[in-house]
Amino acid sequence: MTIPHIIDFPKIIDERGNLSYFESNSKIPFEIKRAYWIYDVPGGEIRGEHAYRELEEVIIALSGSFDVILNDGESEYKFTLNRSYLGLYIPKLMWRRIENFSTNSLALIVSNNTYNPKDYIRDYSEFEELKKIKNGVN
Ligand code: TYD
Repeated sequence: MTIPHIIDFPKIIDERGNLSYFESNSKIPFEIKRAYWIYDVPGGEIRGEHAYRELEEVIIALSGSFDVILNDGESEYKFTLNRSYLGLYIPKLMWRRIENFSTNSLALIVSNNTYNPKDYIRDYSEFEELKKIKNGVN
């Protein structure tokens, strides 16, 4: 599925503490090339406000909660992540931001490529134009 969606990771319930996991190309719909994480976010801060030309990601709230706001150039969608066994798949060419971080929240992000600053679209009007071209509106 190339639209944003929630992924339910396996959850091994155990009296000693629960365990969840994911692997490339099964629950995560791509081969994982990179992981990074966002933490110690001061109250009210916003991270990750941009789009990617090619990169796909899955975001997991390993601890605490935060909101991921997605915009496909036409509509805005809000996903609240607050369970460590759920992930949010974000396809390429999706404007996004992460906000409303709770105290001590920890966002783990896995992606299908290594870090490439050229893949970033940081200007919303450039993103809108690119979406219009891709959708054949222009
Ligand atoms: P960035 O993705 O621009 O975060 P935000 O959109 O929240 O500002 O990343 C911030 C900085 O971290 C930027 O200077 C690039 C660096 N960075 C890496 O070196 N490797 C990575 O994998 C990521 C995600 C960021």
